[in-house]
Amino acid sequence: MMDSLRKTLGSFAMVALVFVGFIFSSFSTLLLLSHNQLLSQHQSNMSTNVNETYGDDLEKALAKATKGKNKTLIIAIVNKAYVEQDVEGDGITMFDLFLSSFWLGERTRSLIDNLLIVAVDQTAYDRCKFLRLNCYRLETNGADFGGEKFFMSQDFIKMMWRRTYFLLEVLKRGYNFIFTDIDVMWLRNPFEKLSKNETEDLQISTDRYHGDPWLQKQPINTGFFLVRSNNKTVTLFETWYGKKDNSTGKKEQDVLVDLIKSGIIGHLGLKVRFLDTLYFSGFCQDSKDFRAVTTVHANCCRSITAKIDDLKMTLYDWKKFRSLEVNSTTNFHWTSHESCMESWK
Ligand SMILES: *[C@@H]1O[C@H](CO)[C@@H](O)[C@H](O)[C@H]1NC(C)=O
Ligand SMILES: *[C@@H]1O[C@H](CO)[C@@H](O)[C@H](O)[C@H]1NC(C)=O
Ligand SMILES: *[C@@H]1O[C@H](CO)[C@@H](O)[C@H](O)[C@H]1NC(C)=O
Ligand SMILES: *[C@@H]1O[C@H](CO)[C@@H](O)[C@H](O)[C@H]1NC(C)=O
Ligand SMILES: *[C@@H]1O[C@H](CO)[C@@H](O)[C@H](O)[C@H]1NC(C)=O
Ligand SMILES: *[C@@H]1O[C@H](CO)[C@@H](O)[C@H](O)[C@H]1NC(C)=O
Ligand SMILES: *[C@@H]1O[C@H](CO)[C@@H](O)[C@H](O)[C@H]1NC(C)=O
Repeated sequence: MMDSLRKTLGSFAMVALVFVGFIFSSFSTLLLLSHNQLLSQHQSNMSTNVNETYGDDLEKALAKATKGKNKTLIIAIVNKAYVEQDVEGDGITMFDLFLSSFWLGERTRSLIDNLLIVAVDQTAYDRCKFLRLNCYRLETNGADFGGEKFFMSQDFIKMMWRRTYFLLEVLKRGYNFIFTDIDVMWLRNPFEKLSKNETEDLQISTDRYHGDPWLQKQPINTGFFLVRSNNKTVTLFETWYGKKDNSTGKKEQDVLVDLIKSGIIGHLGLKVRFLDTLYFSGFCQDSKDFRAVTTVHANCCRSITAKIDDLKMTLYDWKKFRSLEVNSTTNFHWTSHESCMESWK
């Protein structure tokens, strides 16, 4: 009895030992394999990261956002500072306000399908995915674009150039787009107010409008524009980006202003329309007419918190206007932009 039991146990132990040995050796093979895979993956990531290449991901994202829209989409670039909630206050972020405006605006809700959110850091990307929007993660070669970028700081300027480079890539791929800053409220569908004439290459917002859409001496604002993809606009963006290393202390917008001053519009045969603040309004110059206003940009403002404060009031004004009787004769005014005025002091 005991003997046979011992024998059984013995052979069981033997089998178990062999089995464990087998598992162990397979496991180490697996370990080795995954280690090699990691190595090669890492190497390939390293090599693709050296120069900024955009994979199929970008093409997929662009195709999705332009579905049924004739290769035209809306692009907004987002970083952590726009999506992160403060510990204090009511926790409303700039990104929340931006998205709210699509909900509160007139005929703007469906535009969310054509909006591509370009995230320059992981937090912004995660937030975008959480909201089930069209998201694209822009690699930034290890540069940190997460924090708040104060107007004209070194990082602010770097981020602006990165964005110009990305937009050039989109143009090269044959896509037209509206570029919008996150601090632009979309109160009406801008496609209804922008020119549909395809000979117009660029339609760009202004801080102040001087009454003539073709007058080149107007203070442009690169926070909102529609650009059509063609050889002329690709050359414009290439020339613009090409000035990056020869424009110390200037932000990309100033460089474009210089290019316009030096006559690039004529040289390239571009047709550029300067947008009226009556429709494409901002804090620098408020639209005089709530019945016409299409977008409101928190320009002439320095910090994110100030912009959030004053944009909340913009949405409040808008909701109040919308609740009025259709034929009300009430004369409506925008609340003054107190926080933004303070932000310069
Ligand atoms: C390399 O890239 C792949 C695919 O983009 C990603 O899944 C992987 O985590 C990356 N590996 C490293 C080490 O960065
Ligand atoms: C490509 O890589 C070279 C050398 O690493 C670098 O000097 C250059 O700036 C990179 N180009 C871009 C567009 O990042
Ligand atoms: C789509 O875009 C192409 C090229 O810009 C143009 O020829 C065509 O008329 C557009 N179609 C519509 C429906 O707008
Ligand atoms: C577009 O603008 C061009 C140049 O101003 C003009 O000749 C053409 O008739 C316009 N096209 C349409 C459809 O309005
Ligand atoms: C740009 O020009 C090239 C050559 O002149 C032409 O083949 C191409 O179709 C043009 N691209 C666009 C987007 O107009
Ligand atoms: C930079 O700009 C200056 C003045 O506009 C010009 O003289 C110089 O050649 C430029 N340098 C480069 C590298 O483009
Ligand atoms: C608003 O005015 C128009 C024309 O003056 C009139 O036809 C319409 O009935 C009015 N609507 C309301 C709600 O009073």
